[in-house]
Amino acid sequence: MTTRKILVTSALPYANGDIHLGHLMETIQTDIWVRLQKMQGHDCVYVCADDAHGTAIMLSAEKRGITAEQLIAEVQANHERDFAGFHIGFDNYYSTHSDENRELSEAIFKKLDANGHIARRNISQLFDPEKKLFLADRYITGSCPKCQAPGQYGDNCEACGSTYSPAELIDPRSVISGATPIEKESEHLFFRLPEFRDMLREWTRSGTLQEQVANKLAEWLDDDLQEWDISRDAPYFGFEIPGAPGKYFYVWLDAPIGYMASFANYCQRSGKDFDAYWRVDSDAEVYHFIGKDIINFHTLFWPAMLSSAGYRTPTAVYTHGFLTVDGTKMSKSRGTFVNASTYLEHLDPEYLRYYLAAKLSASIDDLDLNLEDFAQRVNSDLVGKVVNIASRCAGFISKGFASKLASTPDNIALLTEMQAARAEIAAFYEQREYGKAVRLIMALADKANQYINDKEPWVIAKQDKQSAELQAICSTGINAFRLLMIYLKPVLPAMAEKAEQFLSVAPLMWQDLEQLLSDHTINKFTPLMTRVEMDKVKAMINQTQQAYESKQQSAATEASAPAEDQTGFEPTIEFADFAKVDLRLARIISAEHVDGADKLLRLSLDLGKDKQGADIVRTVLSGIKSAYEPQQLIGKLTVVVANLAPRKMKFGTSEGMILAAGPGGKDIWLLEPHEGAEPGLRVT
Ligand code: MSP
Ligand code: ZN
Repeated sequence: MTTRKILVTSALPYANGDIHLGHLMETIQTDIWVRLQKMQGHDCVYVCADDAHGTAIMLSAEKRGITAEQLIAEVQANHERDFAGFHIGFDNYYSTHSDENRELSEAIFKKLDANGHIARRNISQLFDPEKKLFLADRYITGSCPKCQAPGQYGDNCEACGSTYSPAELIDPRSVISGATPIEKESEHLFFRLPEFRDMLREWTRSGTLQEQVANKLAEWLDDDLQEWDISRDAPYFGFEIPGAPGKYFYVWLDAPIGYMASFANYCQRSGKDFDAYWRVDSDAEVYHFIGKDIINFHTLFWPAMLSSAGYRTPTAVYTHGFLTVDGTKMSKSRGTFVNASTYLEHLDPEYLRYYLAAKLSASIDDLDLNLEDFAQRVNSDLVGKVVNIASRCAGFISKGFASKLASTPDNIALLTEMQAARAEIAAFYEQREYGKAVRLIMALADKANQYINDKEPWVIAKQDKQSAELQAICSTGINAFRLLMIYLKPVLPAMAEKAEQFLSVAPLMWQDLEQLLSDHTINKFTPLMTRVEMDKVKAMINQTQQAYESKQQSAATEASAPAEDQTGFEPTIEFADFAKVDLRLARIISAEHVDGADKLLRLSLDLGKDKQGADIVRTVLSGIKSAYEPQQLIGKLTVVVANLAPRKMKFGTSEGMILAAGPGGKDIWLLEPHEGAEPGLRVT
C-alpha cells in the first residue's frame, strides 16, 4: 500500500459561541475519518481553527467590556478544551486572527486583484448614525411592510413570509443602538465570481462533491452568479485590505484561508512542506468537511479564489446534514441545544461518538439524535456485545492460565472471517458510510458472542479451570474482541486505549488485523465502558433548559426596551410576578370631578374591613371621566389593584388603581352592584 499525503479540515467554529452537539457531529465525523487514515499508516494531517473575525465578535466583546483579542483567546481555550473532551485529534488548532492568515489573505487578495478579479464600486446600505456602523440585515428590525407584523429582522418577514429590502421596513431601527438607520454610500470590493462559471461547472462535476450537492450547485451556476462583496467598512474586527484604508476583508474571505494558515503554522512546527500540499501540481489530497449551510462558500468562492491565486483546489468537499434531537431542530427552550461542556458533565464522550457513527452516512440528510435510542443502542452494542466478549473470557484466562493466551485459538475460522471483513470495513469508513461499517462490525460481534454462548466456557471451567479447551475458547474470544477493537478504534479511541492496556499490546494499527495473539500474556480486565443511564441524559437536558431559562430571566430584567412579540403585549411575566398583584373587589362609595383635570375622577373605594374590623377606604384617581358621570358610578363594583404603591400625581395622591375593560372612550365597563360580590374579596 502506498502512503497517501492527506490534509483534512473541519469548518472553523465562530469564536463567539460555545461548541455544541451540532459542531460535534461535524468534528466527530471528520475525526473518525482522519483516525482511520492514520491507523492505515497514511500521512494525514487534521487542522482546524477558530473563526475569529466579524461584526458579531466585535459587538460581543464590546458588550462584555473586553477587547476582541481577549474574547477570542478565551473562547478558543474553551473550544480546544471541549474538542479535547471528545477526543478530537487535531494536529493543529489555530485562529484566523493570526499572522499567517493575515499574510496569506493579503497575498491571495493581491493575486486576485492583479488578475483583474476584483471590482470596486459604491453601494448604498443602512447605517447606524449613533453607532457609526453599517448594518448587516440581521442588525435591523422593524415592522413588515406587507403585513405590519412588528419585530421583523432584516429582509424577510417571519409572519407572512414576504421578502423586501431592509430599508422598506416600517419604522426601522438599529438593533444595536435603537437609532433609526439612514442610507449611506460607500465603496466596496467585489470578487468577480461570474468569471469562474466555466471553471466551476467543471470542478463541481469532477468527483469533488456529493451528487446532491453538485445538483444544487448546477442550479446556481445556471442562473445568476453574483459578484461577491468581500469588503466591510470600519469598524470591523478583521484584516484591513491592502491599498484600501478603512476597508476590511469580510470574515468569509479570510475564513477558508484560515485552513491554509493553520496548516502553515503546523508546517513551521513539524517541518512539513506547505507548498507540497498547495501548489497546483501537488500530489497531496485536501478534504474539507462542512455542514450543508456553508456549501456555497466552499464550493464556489473558495475553489474560484484558489484557482485565481494559483493554488490547487480541494480534492473533495464532504458535506453533512444537520443534527436534530428527538426529531426536531436543537432547541434552547426544550433543552436540546446541548453544549459540549454540559454533555461532558453527565456522559461519556464515546457514547456520542459511537451513536453518531452508527447513524452517519455520506448523504447530506439530517441526522437525528433520539435520546432513548441513544442510550439503548450504546448499551446493547458496546456494553452488551463488544465489552461482553472480553469480560466473559478474561477471568478464565487470568485465573486458570496466569493470564496467558493459548498458542492456537480453537476457532480459527471465526477469526479468519472477522479478519476478512477488513477491506470492506475500511472502504465504508473511507466513503463516510460509518453506519454501514458499524453494522458490519456489530454483526461480527454477534457471531463472536454466539460462539461463546455455544461453547459455554463457564461450564467447562466448573470441571477444570486449566483445561486446554477452555484456554483455546477464551483465547478465541479475546482475539475476537481485539479484532473488533481495531475496527472500532477510529470511533472509540479512548476505549481502544483501555483495550490496548488490557491486551498488553502497542497502539493498534489497521495492519494488526493481519495477526492474532498467541502465547501472549494479557493484563487484568477492567471495565471498559459503563452503561448509559437515562437519568443522566435527562439531567443533561434539564441543565441545558435551566441555563437557558435563567439567562432569559436575567436578559429580561436587564433589557431597557424589551422587544415586543407578535401580540404587541408587554414581555411575558412569570406567574410569581403576577401573583404579587393583589386584586380586590371594591365598591365605589363616592365619585367626583377633579378641578382642572380633563380625564380624571376622584373615587373613594370601600375595600371591606381590615383584621381589626375597621373599614378600608382608598382614594383613587382614575382616568374614566369620559365614560361615566360621577353619579352613575356610586355603588358600582370594580376591581382594584390594592397593593399598588401610592403615587403622587399632579392632582393629589392615588392609593391604588382600578381595572376597567372596554374599547375606551365612552365604553369602559364596570360591574353593576348585583354582578359582584362583597368588597374586599380577593379576585383570582
Ligand atoms: N465560521 C463558519 C465556518 C467557516 S469555515 C471556513 C461557521 N461556523 S459555525 O460555528 O456556525 O459552524 C461550524 C460548522 O458546524 C459548520 O460546518 C456548520 O454546518 C456546523 N454545524 C453547526 N450547527 C450544526 C448542526 N446542528 N448540525 C450539524 N452541523 C452543524 O459556519
Ligand atoms: Zn409580514
